[in-house]
Amino acid sequence: MRICNINGVTYVNNILVVNKSYPLPETYNPKGLTADTLKAFRKMSCCARKNGICLCIYSGFRSYEYQNNLYNDYVSVYGQEVADIFSARAGFSEHQSGMAMDVNTADDSFDGTPEAVWLAENSWKFGFIIRYPKDKQHITGYKYEPWHIRYVGTDVARKLYCSGLTLEEYLEIDSLYK
Ligand code: DAL
Ligand code: ZN
Repeated sequence: MRICNINGVTYVNNILVVNKSYPLPETYNPKGLTADTLKAFRKMSCCARKNGICLCIYSGFRSYEYQNNLYNDYVSVYGQEVADIFSARAGFSEHQSGMAMDVNTADDSFDGTPEAVWLAENSWKFGFIIRYPKDKQHITGYKYEPWHIRYVGTDVARKLYCSGLTLEEYLEIDSLYK
């Protein structure tokens, strides 16, 4: 495992990492989804549509300020302990990287739908991983989110899909607020 920090951004084995252990700088702002991420999503949604599956971006890039407001709103409703299970603190959200998105929704009712099943079985072919899989909360830091995908490129996505490993397990890193 090779960790490097460039201008406050953590790369592990050349993969940009954002989780509870590795935040992004407050000023980090790609101003939207990265070109590779958007291109891969467009390719994927086009393929999905041919199979009768409709995929859209429900939540893509989020700025530090946006995530801060979102997280604080959740804390005011659910309290910090509960909010920390499903929402990242400002600076710690993958959405701020421009390489993650919520597909179609961010609601538990998405689980088991044809769209969720298609995403789980096919998104790796386009370079995406289901970032917070079921029963991996103790590793990823977050409860199951079948809608949240992260672009890692097709090589890494294939390895994670075939192994069943989370990004944390694959890179041998943790995800804990310190
Ligand atoms: N829901 C994910 C963990 C986020 O807030 O980035
Ligand atoms: Zn998300």
